[in-house]
Amino acid sequence: MPTITMFLICFLLSLLLFLIPTKIMKIPCPTLTMLRVRGKQEMVGMEQYLPREVLSNILTRLPVKDLLKCKCVCMSWFDLLTDPHFIANYYAVHNNLQSQEKHLLVIRRPFSSALKTYISVLSWNVNDPKKHVFSYDLNPPCEFNSKHKYWTEILGPCNGLYLLEGNPNVLMNPSLRQFRALPQSHVTSPIGFYFLTDYAGFGFDPKTSDYKVVVIKDLWLKETDERKLGYWTAELFSLNSNSWRKLNAAVPFSTEIRGSSPVYTYVNNCCHWWGFVDESGRKEDVVLAFNMVNESFRKIKVPSLRSSSKDESATLAPFNEYGTIGVIVYPVRGKEKSFDVWLMKDYWDEGSWVKQYSVEPVEAIHKVVGYYGSNQFLWSSSNNGLVWYDCEAELERIKDLEVCGTNGSSRAARYMESLVSLKGRNEFSCQFFHVARLIPNSIDQRESSNFPIC
Ligand SMILES: *[C@@H]1O[C@H](CO)[C@@H](O)[C@H](O)[C@H]1NC(C)=O
Ligand SMILES: *[C@@H]1O[C@H](CO)[C@@H](O)[C@H](O)[C@H]1NC(C)=O
Repeated sequence: MPTITMFLICFLLSLLLFLIPTKIMKIPCPTLTMLRVRGKQEMVGMEQYLPREVLSNILTRLPVKDLLKCKCVCMSWFDLLTDPHFIANYYAVHNNLQSQEKHLLVIRRPFSSALKTYISVLSWNVNDPKKHVFSYDLNPPCEFNSKHKYWTEILGPCNGLYLLEGNPNVLMNPSLRQFRALPQSHVTSPIGFYFLTDYAGFGFDPKTSDYKVVVIKDLWLKETDERKLGYWTAELFSLNSNSWRKLNAAVPFSTEIRGSSPVYTYVNNCCHWWGFVDESGRKEDVVLAFNMVNESFRKIKVPSLRSSSKDESATLAPFNEYGTIGVIVYPVRGKEKSFDVWLMKDYWDEGSWVKQYSVEPVEAIHKVVGYYGSNQFLWSSSNNGLVWYDCEAELERIKDLEVCGTNGSSRAARYMESLVSLKGRNEFSCQFFHVARLIPNSIDQRESSNFPIC
């Protein structure tokens, strides 16, 4: 019985689609609003009194989930909300409106016996006397719910998009609730070798308006199970073409990568990895950069930030506010940790590294797992909790976010609202469809013509 009802509804809706005359799409906003509210004239025609700039300013203050409803109000609102200029402006302005509100995207594996990765958004207001942290889980589509699917790193936000690195690699816009698995790559290792580790980068190429994922793969010799030092293969995924291709640019000779970075470091259209070069037996830290626009690698020299006597960790971080990269240096061991923040003052001058500031020993911080702003970092605690540390705050510098991830699995990034769609043009037909459903009374059945479905 329910199937028959569903079928009927679907049939009626598809009939609607074909019966709507193209003329309707040109009806200005006030007329549609009038039809919808059936006679309540006083609510009609907001657009007549509000210039587009004012309307755009008001809508910029709403979260994405409300904007999706606004899209269905009328064609002129739909046009505004799908305008690339509005989308870019919304991202830049909306996310900086209420600096008292903090929003984090967190991935973690709460159970050590299972790979299942939870994705959550945590929010709090720094002025809330109760210090409450709100949290909700994002549920990926069911095709990602399997024992073997998991994620280990968050790369983002890049215009509000995030790459979840793992199996499979997924692009996500959490505010639009869009998930998109990347296709399998077809790059194979040379005979006698295998790839063991992937090091991913994610970014945006403004020249071609394309989102790109670059993956560097190291080479291991099958016979001896040894890494072939200094040899790499790199491939690149383009969202516009939805495919992978082998990169011709060579990774600068003799540069080794130290491992995936827990912090997404994307600055000046370049993604970065923390690595080293082996200078006749002495390992020297370097940063490897990949430029998303001209698809070339660059090796950035780093002075010795880490003391040679102490065992210290270094984590790359993006200091977007200054348009450059930096490094957080802290001891590997110890219950209390002090840390130093280094900055490359001028991104194009590798001689411009300076120690920006040092932080006195802090209890309960263990490892850097995320970046929020130039003075706000996320740490995992020694008992696998997630901790926020704000070097600038006067009172509450440290905040326990009350979430746990086993095996060091927690990662956090700033959560940003964004209308950038991963679906491209397909989404539009569905949106038109919603508009059509709002106004059944206005259908003029005599004028049936083809409804443009993009
Ligand atoms: C977590 O670590 C424990 C102990 O090292 C190990 O037995 C378990 O398999 C790990 N779990 C995951 C999901 O990696
Ligand atoms: C790529 O672009 C960067 C920055 O504009 C420039 O410094 C670099 O030389 C370019 N590399 C190549 C191979 O064109």
